[in-house]
Amino acid sequence: MDKVTVNTFIKMKQKGEKISALTAYDYTMASLMDQAGLDLILIGDSCGNVIAGHDTTIPVTMEEIIYHTRSVRRGVDRAFVVADMPYMSFQESSEKAIHNAGELMQKGRAEAVKLEGGQHITRTVEKITQIGIPVLGHLGLTPQSVYAFGGFKVQGRETKQAEKLKEDALALQEAGAFAIVLEKIPAELAGEITQSLEIPTIGIGAGPQCDGQILVSYDMLGLNEKFNPKFLRKYANLNEVIKTAVDKYSDDVKSGQYPSDEESY
Ligand code: KIV
Repeated sequence: MDKVTVNTFIKMKQKGEKISALTAYDYTMASLMDQAGLDLILIGDSCGNVIAGHDTTIPVTMEEIIYHTRSVRRGVDRAFVVADMPYMSFQESSEKAIHNAGELMQKGRAEAVKLEGGQHITRTVEKITQIGIPVLGHLGLTPQSVYAFGGFKVQGRETKQAEKLKEDALALQEAGAFAIVLEKIPAELAGEITQSLEIPTIGIGAGPQCDGQILVSYDMLGLNEKFNPKFLRKYANLNEVIKTAVDKYSDDVKSGQYPSDEESY
């Protein structure tokens, strides 16, 4: 299968082929996802939640995203690898954003960066894309603004908010974004935005009309039994699988059944 590039996504949208995307944070998982034929891997700042145990993505740092991106990149041959720009790595100034986007490309070996936000960051998006770094936009429930939203709520339910999201999407396209993540917005609105754009949309909790879908891998693999939002489909129950395996291992160690003579040198 050919290497996925920014051009692949435009062609997929034109042909009506859906884009499959997941988050990854380490070499082993990324390598399995790549072998399974996934199109896009995002090193999301959701690592703050699922790897580090924070309740928001706000504490995540550039160093952490660089570390995870480097690890993921070593496991990937075909999928397109996008690194998330963490909180306050791009909001302060375009200069700082360009510097940090460059770090994610050079040190992390990402192929693109993702920024949360609409019209207020389009100048920055324009500058980053102008120097040859592809940008993935992110609209709707942008988790770095969780305190401004008053929680992890569906966005764009009201007309004014919905209109703003449509304008934001067009502005990001105009600024050079190669695709836009739409998070937790009504399906109908996501459909309208998708139809209005030449670039693809990648939804998470944004219904079936988006050009692609993304989920946090730890969530769709069922690693957290307590996280069950409406949009999430669990494709495995690794929480149960891992606990059962660890329980059996622990029993075998304590009872002396592991290691056996065959497993010894
Ligand atoms: O950080 C993340 O995992 C994300 C995806 C949910 C889109 O931004």
